[in-house]
Amino acid sequence: MSAMETKLELRAELCEEILREYLPQADPCADTLVQAVAYSLLSGGKRLRPVIMETTGRMYGGREALRRPFMAALEMIHSYSLVHDDLPCMDDDEYRRGRKTTHIVYGEGMAVLAGDALLNAAAETALTAFDEAGSASENAAVIRAMRLLMKNAGLSGMIGGQCADLEAEDRPGEVDARTLYYIHKHKTACMIESAFQIGAILAGAPEQDIRALGRIAECTGVAFQIRDDILDVTGDTAELGKTVGSDARDGKTTYVTMHGLDKAMRDTEALSEEAMTLLDSLTGVCDREEQAFLRALVESLVQRTH
Ligand code: IPE
Ligand code: IPE
Ligand code: MG
Ligand code: MG
Ligand code: MG
Repeated sequence: MSAMETKLELRAELCEEILREYLPQADPCADTLVQAVAYSLLSGGKRLRPVIMETTGRMYGGREALRRPFMAALEMIHSYSLVHDDLPCMDDDEYRRGRKTTHIVYGEGMAVLAGDALLNAAAETALTAFDEAGSASENAAVIRAMRLLMKNAGLSGMIGGQCADLEAEDRPGEVDARTLYYIHKHKTACMIESAFQIGAILAGAPEQDIRALGRIAECTGVAFQIRDDILDVTGDTAELGKTVGSDARDGKTTYVTMHGLDKAMRDTEALSEEAMTLLDSLTGVCDREEQAFLRALVESLVQRTH
C-alpha cells in the first residue's frame, strides 16, 4: 500500500467516526426509517467527498470543529443521492457499496423517505457549525459554506444533473457532447466542488485559491464520472460493489458510448493533468504535505477500479 493509500484509509476512518457521531438518533415512532437511514449511510462508501473537504481544510489551516459538521452533511447528501439514484424509477439498481440497495431491503417507500431524511439531516447537521463559529468571519464563512452546499446539491447542481441524465435516457441520438458534459458536471462535479471549496472557505483561504479549487473540482469531478462510465463497462462487480452494465441496460448515453473507451481514458487523464497543474499553482497553501496528498489522490482517481 502506498503512503497515499494508507493516509486515505485513515482519513476515510475519520469520516466514518464523524458520520456515526452525527447519525440521526433512534426514534421509537420511526424505527424502521432510522434503520434504513443507518443502512444507507454507514455502508462503506469511499467517503471521497468528506476526505477531500478534510484535506483542503487542513491545507489552509482550518479548524476541524467547524469542518466536521460539513463533512458529515456532504456525505449524507451524497448517500441520499445514491439511494434515490438506485430506485426503480431512476436507475433501478440492486447492488450498492457491496450490498443490496436500500429499496431492495426496506422497500421503495422507505428508501424515498430515507433519502428525504438524510437531506434534512444534512441541513440540520451543517447548521450546527454555527455553534462552533467563534468570530464574525467564521460565522460568515459558515453561511457561505451552507449556501454553496445546498446550491451544489440542488436544481442548479446535482439534482439538475440527475434530471438531465434521466431525460437523456433512451434518446441516444439527441444527446450531444455539450449535454453529456452538462450531465457530468452537474450530477457529479458539483458535489465534488462542495468538497474542494467548503474546506477552503471555512479555513479562510484566499479568494483566488477558492476559485482555482472550483476548476480543479470540475476537472476532477468530470474525470471521476467518466471513469465511473468506463467502469460500468470494464469494471468488476465484486470490486465495484455495484452492478456492471447498468448504463447499457438503461439505454444511457455515457462518455464511453459517445466517444469510445480509448478517448474516454485519454480525456480523464487530460482532465486530471489540468487539475494537478492547477493544484500546484495554489498560492495560499500553508500545509504542503496536505497539498501533495491531494495531488496524489486526484491522480489516483483516473486509475481507480472501484
Ligand atoms: C458514485 O459515487 C456516484 C458517482 C458520482 C459516480 P462514489 O463512487 O463516490 O460512490 P461511493 O460513495 O464510494 O459508494
Ligand atoms: C449518479 O451517477 C450520480 C448521482 C448523483 C447519484 P450514476 O448513476 O452513474 O452513479 P452510479 O453508477 O449508479 O453509482
Ligand atoms: Mg444515475
Ligand atoms: Mg446509477
Ligand atoms: Mg454510473
